[in-house]
Amino acid sequence: MRGEEIARLGRQYLMETYAQLPLVLVKGEGARVWDAENNCYLDFVGGLAVNSVGHCHPQVVAAIREQSERLLHCSNLYWFAPPVELARELVNLSGLDRIFFCNSGAEANEAAIKLVRKYASEQGKENPEIISFIRSFHGRTLGALAATGQEKFWEGFAPLPKGFRHIPFNDTRALLEAVNSQTAAVFVEPVQGEGGVHPATPEFMNGLAQVRERHGVLLVFDEVQCGLGRTGKMFAFEHYGVKPDILLLAKALGGGLPIGAVLARAEVAAAFRPGSHGSTFGGNPVSCAAARAALRALQEEGLVANAARVGSYFKARLEELARRFSLIREIRGLGLMLGMELDRPGQRLVALCQARGLLVNCTAERVLRFLPPLLVGKREVDEVVSILGEALAELCGGEGEGGGRHARADKA
Ligand SMILES: Cc1ncc(COP(=O)(O)O)c(C=O)c1O
Repeated sequence: MRGEEIARLGRQYLMETYAQLPLVLVKGEGARVWDAENNCYLDFVGGLAVNSVGHCHPQVVAAIREQSERLLHCSNLYWFAPPVELARELVNLSGLDRIFFCNSGAEANEAAIKLVRKYASEQGKENPEIISFIRSFHGRTLGALAATGQEKFWEGFAPLPKGFRHIPFNDTRALLEAVNSQTAAVFVEPVQGEGGVHPATPEFMNGLAQVRERHGVLLVFDEVQCGLGRTGKMFAFEHYGVKPDILLLAKALGGGLPIGAVLARAEVAAAFRPGSHGSTFGGNPVSCAAARAALRALQEEGLVANAARVGSYFKARLEELARRFSLIREIRGLGLMLGMELDRPGQRLVALCQARGLLVNCTAERVLRFLPPLLVGKREVDEVVSILGEALAELCGGEGEGGGRHARADKA
């Protein structure tokens, strides 16, 4: 089917939830994707932090093939090896004790909300409250939406579940004032993603540790986007030296297949007993086999250290651009989770980059967000910075380097 036809049928048959860009992708390899006309793009969207080991990593593809020929699915009424092996690996990596597998980031948040409430009820908290942060994003299901601190996502979906309070991010005083005897947990993204790439400050993370110490609240770190090497450490919490009671993973975990995970300290995890929670597909053998292969690739190929190294080079190069173009307000982020805040909406810049063979995403209206596969090197970063320079020059009418189409070097 031709690209235009795919887009036309998509508009006819799919619900309009995504406002897709006019681009039909058919193939991916490493950090590059190809459209239906065989044009190649450098992919700095990275499936919004899913494709961390690159598109179609051969070991992930092989693991999927192998597992799918043996056991595609079987009910959680029985034991099977892939989720058990994956759980052991994640426990060893994170230092937490027990895992519940689900299928997405939103589901991981839902499960965590239930776990926190169950634990709180056993601690005698009758009106447990969850604190989360303004600009946060925790997913689209009702509980995760209620935790999300952005009104625009709530519009039209009232009534949302009660028991959530949103306070400013990186504001330790607001945190200390908000916590009380009914506070069950604080949900936080160590680096806010959808909200515009805002890393937590070390002081704020220390404040979180303090409220846990004083009030026995649980710290739930939503590392759905910033976890698994993205920030240059396996888990973003390692930058701060504050370990969560509950850690949420999804996105990159499956190497491209859907899977989410809730990791918890043993004492907290014990609040869930048979029947407390469940998921038909949670711990699916193929997703878990893919996740194990992706984790192996992440470690064996040194991608976490690469994210730190290339991320700081990329940040420095973006800061050079910020010095040249006054419409860039700020460069933020950690590792290969970087944001470039503009003084205007970023969608036109996204289109100008796409026309030059670069895929980037705009979030929070004005923030260009870079979430490339963690295998990119300085060569790709230089290519991206050169394209951005041209696109920015065109956007501000000739300032800096000239416009013109960047040659798409790679054709399949
Ligand atoms: C921090 C965070 N939590 C949760 C989610 C929801 O994940 P999913 O889209 O897999 O439900 C996202 C998605 O962007 C996210 O960035």
